[in-house]
Amino acid sequence: MKEFRGRVAVVTGAASGIGFALCQRFAAEGMHLVMADLPDSPLDSAATKLRAEFSAAGGEVLTQPTDVARWDDVAALAAATKAKFGGAHIVCNNAGVRTMGSIWNVSLEDWHWVIGINLWGVIHGIKAFAPEMIARGEPGHFVNTASTVGLVAMPDNGPYSASKFGVVGVSESLLDELRLAGAPIGVTVLCPNRVPTQIRQNSNRRRPSGEPVSTHQSGDAARAVQAPGVAAMVLDAIRLDRFWLLTHPEFGDELYSRTRNIVESNPAPPRA
Ligand SMILES: NC(=O)c1ccc[n+]([C@@H]2O[C@H](COP(=O)([O-])OP(=O)(O)OC[C@H]3O[C@@H](n4cnc5c(N)ncnc54)[C@H](O)[C@@H]3O)[C@@H](O)[C@H]2O)c1
Repeated sequence: MKEFRGRVAVVTGAASGIGFALCQRFAAEGMHLVMADLPDSPLDSAATKLRAEFSAAGGEVLTQPTDVARWDDVAALAAATKAKFGGAHIVCNNAGVRTMGSIWNVSLEDWHWVIGINLWGVIHGIKAFAPEMIARGEPGHFVNTASTVGLVAMPDNGPYSASKFGVVGVSESLLDELRLAGAPIGVTVLCPNRVPTQIRQNSNRRRPSGEPVSTHQSGDAARAVQAPGVAAMVLDAIRLDRFWLLTHPEFGDELYSRTRNIVESNPAPPRA
């Protein structure tokens, strides 16, 4: 997708962190925005800030309270987008939460909560928007937010890792299916590593079990990439139609090492 001005971007988890930075980036390009987040999030104040900051760029902003774990909410989000703007061009399935703890200690309700938002939220977003986008036939793009933990798992991250591996798999299938359908719609799977946001606080506040969460910090603070930097990378990836987007390219070493382990521990049998 090369043209952004006057096109329509939908962002879930738009009130905070990476989602809000994506909205700012798209608004700066003169896009219309549909901002979706939970009813108890600061969605309205985020939209007010966006309108004040980018009124000169010409885009309009619609807010839609949405729980991405609920199909009816996401279907209503797609309907509101169509009613207001005629449909979406960019859909960022970005809303996400995190819990920490060993697989056997995390409560079942927390497991369901994480998978419901992080994986089902992305599936709902694709099912709600893709048919109409394909039928309309205009250039478009899906951006699905996974994580480097969706490429190489970490201890104490079982539910998060399971959900994000799922997002990577669904995104790879989506790319192939859109190509086979001949649709001019690209896909980017965004795999951030360390981005300073409110994810820990937002997740702790809403986690159904209310269990105390580990204070364990992953990654190296010095390697943090700020959310606006991530949003700039996403815009480039859409423009260049790039599927894989790792915010920390140095993570490639861990990926090579995982792949090497898989391949080398399964040597090819001698051929007859
Ligand atoms: N921050 C990082 O270091 C990092 C690393 C890897 C992946 N990610 C991913 O990036 C995405 C954005 O996270 P962030 O770091 O900006 O966190 P954040 O908490 O600042 O923003 C996430 C937003 O999602 C919203 N949200 C949560 N549950 C929702 C639901 N059910 N329906 C709709 N909205 C919901 C929250 O209200 C919040 O506004 C997530 O998918 C996260 O897993 C973040």
